[in-house]
Amino acid sequence: MSRGTPETLPGVVGVVIVAAGRGERFGVAAKVLANVGDRPMLAWTLDAVARAPGVGEVVVVAGEHSERGIRDVVDAGSWPYPVRIVIGGERRHDSVMAGVRAISATVDVVLIHDAARPLVTADLFTACAAAARADGAAIVAVPVTVTIKRVRDGAVVETSPRDALWAAQTPQGFVRRLLIEASERADQRHLDVTDEASLLERLGQPVRIVAGSQSNLKVTHPSDLHIADALLRRRTAGTGGVART
Ligand code: CTP
Ligand code: MG
Repeated sequence: MSRGTPETLPGVVGVVIVAAGRGERFGVAAKVLANVGDRPMLAWTLDAVARAPGVGEVVVVAGEHSERGIRDVVDAGSWPYPVRIVIGGERRHDSVMAGVRAISATVDVVLIHDAARPLVTADLFTACAAAARADGAAIVAVPVTVTIKRVRDGAVVETSPRDALWAAQTPQGFVRRLLIEASERADQRHLDVTDEASLLERLGQPVRIVAGSQSNLKVTHPSDLHIADALLRRRTAGTGGVART
């Protein structure tokens, strides 16, 4: 496991923020535009990226249904690098790869992040980029704190030993070339993908773990928004409204 510290990174980091989902479990299609801590979820993510040193470009992947609102959020900020918007696809992985293809060839490390994780910090982007550059691939993850049961037909089949289980979060970082090659190989074999790290795992590429934070939660259901809201308000309290990262 590597724990990163803020530092200036060699090379250029590109960040792909996937925001093209339909928010079915949340109940609002443009979930990433929902307000949390008085600002759209996506705005928090963009701010965290802007505090991470070494980022050279950002691509936000929007849905046709959310493109206009996403453009408004992007245009409301001023960014020290180009921020482009592209249209995503049916599956999350399609959206990720639409974003990755829009990243310049001069970028060596790509970080993928869910816009639905507004509590991400600049330190997590920095640590993930450093680990990905060193080892080829790295994901932010946290140890599982609940007991996981494998269930079939309404009955427990097995209890998984918890000490080996980690919950994957984002960002996930990759040497850009490795990710594109792994994705093309998966496409040729019509493989379904849950996250991009699993593409590299299948090829035997080590994927480094970067210690994440339990508070880097993904807003999936409406109740998650209340938790994220409370955490972001706590974070900004006493900083004059500016989030510490
Ligand atoms: N995402 C995406 N393109 C897709 C599906 C998901 O860019 N085709 C993005 C979402 O916008 C989100 C992240 O991937 O930022 C994680 O997905 P999830 O939390 O599942 O969001 P939704 O897909 O929008 O929600 P649901 O699955 O409940 O419809
Ligand atoms: Mg989804």
